[in-house]
Amino acid sequence: MKGLILSGGKGTRLYPLTYTRAKQLIPVANKPVLVRAIESIRDAGVTEIGIVIGQTGPEIRATIGDGSRWHVQLTYIEQPSPDGLAHAVKISQDFLRDDPFVMFLGDNVLQGGISTLIRDFAGNPWNSQIVLKEVDNPSAFGVVKLNPDGTIERLVEKPKDPPSNLALVGIYMFDHHIFEAVHAIKPSWRGELEITDAIQWLIEAGYTVSPHVHSGWWIDTGKPTDMLEANSCVLDELTPQIAPDAVIENSEVDRRVTIESGAQIINSVIHGPTIIGVNTRIENSYVGPYTSIYHDVEICGCEIDRSIVLENSRIYDPEMRLHDCLIGRNVTVRHKAAKPKTLTMNLGDHSEVWLA
Ligand code: G1P
Repeated sequence: MKGLILSGGKGTRLYPLTYTRAKQLIPVANKPVLVRAIESIRDAGVTEIGIVIGQTGPEIRATIGDGSRWHVQLTYIEQPSPDGLAHAVKISQDFLRDDPFVMFLGDNVLQGGISTLIRDFAGNPWNSQIVLKEVDNPSAFGVVKLNPDGTIERLVEKPKDPPSNLALVGIYMFDHHIFEAVHAIKPSWRGELEITDAIQWLIEAGYTVSPHVHSGWWIDTGKPTDMLEANSCVLDELTPQIAPDAVIENSEVDRRVTIESGAQIINSVIHGPTIIGVNTRIENSYVGPYTSIYHDVEICGCEIDRSIVLENSRIYDPEMRLHDCLIGRNVTVRHKAAKPKTLTMNLGDHSEVWLA
């Protein structure tokens, strides 16, 4: 069995963060979403993994390297243009050969890992296994209509009028017959070779595609609100740890808090589930539940909860509590003492600010 992680795409819905960083490298609970995908595949016993990269490829290669840090062997496969998920499978044929494989969309986060799914696929004579999840907004996904006996009637990509509320989760298992499908299908209305169409082709050709309805949470981290939601879900499941060299002085830190190496918590209150990153300093502040502060951040005189703050950012004395914030790298948020008392902003393209 091999793994294939798709990590192309521009991540336009996550602008401005994705102007300067690949969306799969944005951390959730202080770990890039792509690393979470690599670990899920590895934990299911699959160590030979291909990563399909697009224009953010150089950054992904530089950050992830050869995979030895996670005890996996990585092969990078370049997709010259974002021509769809089935196209990514097509260009990965030399790497995958005749082996069965699990394909994992690099921006998906799934509760509970994929070990059971892989075991089921390996132990059954199926040509493919797909994962489904009931959602409120099926039009945003590939949608599957099941027959009364639980087999698949049909699949359709982002339908205006969805035939069910079962979305296709971005985790798929295939044997080599998928190559017949990806060579046979034509581009969709959005100009892409859709994996949904390839799976529909398998069914029409008489191959067995087994549907598995996932019972835990699943998040496709396309938008800022999805990142915050995924962050909350993952923090809920994190086993708290305090690094031995963390400094905690005159502070209240509850038992659901993780504090990473070299972090300093001074005169502050931290309520979990929360993670404070390497060499970050929190002073005279309150950090509330569902917050991930990445490494080398400084937070002073601040109240913040349900937020993500990326590395090297600084927050000094904002007058209001920060809530539901997604703050990028090297950002400064500070109190303005000088008159006139105004909001003074220096925002990047596609930034969004909500004023209370
Ligand atoms: C892709 C698939 C879609 C699937 C989704 C899951 O959509 O085309 O069928 O439901 O991933 O994350 P995209 O993220 O390319 O819009």
